[in-house]
Amino acid sequence: MQVNTVATAPIAGQKPGTSGLRKKTRVFMQPHYLENFVQSIIDAIGGVAGKVLVLGGDGRYWNDRAAQVILRMCAAQGARRMIVGQNALLSTPAASHLIRKRGADGGFILSASHNPGGEDADFGLKFNSANGGPAPESLTERIHAHSQRIDAYQILEAQDVDLSRIGTTQLAQTEIEIVDPVSDYAALMETLFDFDLIRRTLSNGLTLRFDAMHAVTGPYATEILERRLGAAAGSVVNARPLPDFGGGHPDPSPVWAADLVGLMMGDGAPDFAAASDGDGDRNMILGRGVYVTPSDSLAVLAANAHLAPGYARGLAGVARSMPTSRAADLVAQKAGIAHFETPTGWKFFGNLLDDGRATLCGEESAGTGSDHVREKDGLWAVLLWLNILAHRGEPVQRIMAAHWSEYGRNYYSRHDYEAVPTEAADALIAALRAQLPDLPGRSHDGLTIESAEDFSYLDPVDGSRTNGQGIRILFTDGSRVVLRLSGTGTEGATLRVYLERYQPPEGALDLALDDALAPVIAAADALARIRELTGRQAPDVTT
Ligand code: G6P
Ligand code: ZN
Repeated sequence: MQVNTVATAPIAGQKPGTSGLRKKTRVFMQPHYLENFVQSIIDAIGGVAGKVLVLGGDGRYWNDRAAQVILRMCAAQGARRMIVGQNALLSTPAASHLIRKRGADGGFILSASHNPGGEDADFGLKFNSANGGPAPESLTERIHAHSQRIDAYQILEAQDVDLSRIGTTQLAQTEIEIVDPVSDYAALMETLFDFDLIRRTLSNGLTLRFDAMHAVTGPYATEILERRLGAAAGSVVNARPLPDFGGGHPDPSPVWAADLVGLMMGDGAPDFAAASDGDGDRNMILGRGVYVTPSDSLAVLAANAHLAPGYARGLAGVARSMPTSRAADLVAQKAGIAHFETPTGWKFFGNLLDDGRATLCGEESAGTGSDHVREKDGLWAVLLWLNILAHRGEPVQRIMAAHWSEYGRNYYSRHDYEAVPTEAADALIAALRAQLPDLPGRSHDGLTIESAEDFSYLDPVDGSRTNGQGIRILFTDGSRVVLRLSGTGTEGATLRVYLERYQPPEGALDLALDDALAPVIAAADALARIRELTGRQAPDVTT
């Protein structure tokens, strides 16, 4: 088989964001586009010769083609072994586990997460390091630097590898090992949770629905929830992964999983429901008549994790991204364990997990996980919830009420303004940044500003500093507004406004969310002049 060295030139914009490189599928399909980026990754990690790498993705349109290109490039450059999920499928947490379990040097994950899939939709590629976690900033910066000076890439001239058959084949000098994407992951889950207890609870009548949104978790959820735990057949819906996710957004949020929310708010709702996203790392949790915000879910999981065998010895600490509500901090404080506040992006949890400082991590963007892998993990969160429900024998609603009456309640919402012209969004943030020193002491809508800053993170493990991670405004009553620009959008800028208001255990715990947040919303608009500078009267998406 012949190795071709193909001349190329740098392509602008190959800068990995919060979670890898995400672009329109047609952008990725342009000549040399994928190859340039893959070569930049290979160069940034010091080549792949002799290395073992994992490869898989969420099954979206072009996933299979991109996988073949990556295989031919890694084989051309001397990789020892490529461990590939059957049909090039691997959920993000399963890929993370496989990298760790097999001691691989890293892995390529093909996904644009919860973004829609298809020729006219989105595609993405990220590289995870040997710890199983997303590449750290230092590596993504090197990848970008290589992409700006690339002049050639190497690729094998070869037929496609048949990725449908489990087993090992050879591509030039590289062994291609095709594995069942589910089995190692399911085995890991069995070590963390009390499957017997959950099985008994399900057979005693606990009902559930899991919406796989036609994305990668379908096969995982069917195997684990229906086959191994005995949930009724049909409990997992939209279980078949489709290249266009059935035309929807595979995003487990009240907006894109509105049917599931409707089901849970109506008569005849099951006891518990959940959904996951395109690549299986996000989750949404619902009980009969109740939606659990991701921030609250992290707090409840932190307070109850010891009920699952994998966490019976307690937690070392809890970490959350800065915009995530502070509900989990309250749990950590009461338990006397450490809590950490990191910038948005799962990669910032990696050092805390590797160093044994945090056991659970979570983000407001529907991500929760633990030190079992180095990614957030949708099905893991579902199983931990099920383990807790089985152990406590109480409905979700009662668990939430008990939690709030113990710790107080952090009312929380995120308002997104999407596809805002980049200049307008940058100007809004710049204007806000400029006024930061003058804000403390000022009042808006009955709220007085206590502090205002541009969030900067000092990693306690490696001492690295990350600046400019979002504007954070704290009010004297414990309310909070955070504003930042998304790092995962593919069109213009997305302005995210995170709103939080705290009520102590003896305070008002049953307010309607809009009423609870009204003063914070008004103060945010007054401070950042959102309507004026974006020209938008209301957010596009509210979660
Ligand atoms: C991805 C990342 C998360 C992040 C989320 C939102 O899912 O893995 O870590 O919280 O995107 O990021 P964004 O920059 O769009 O707010
Ligand atoms: Zn995802």
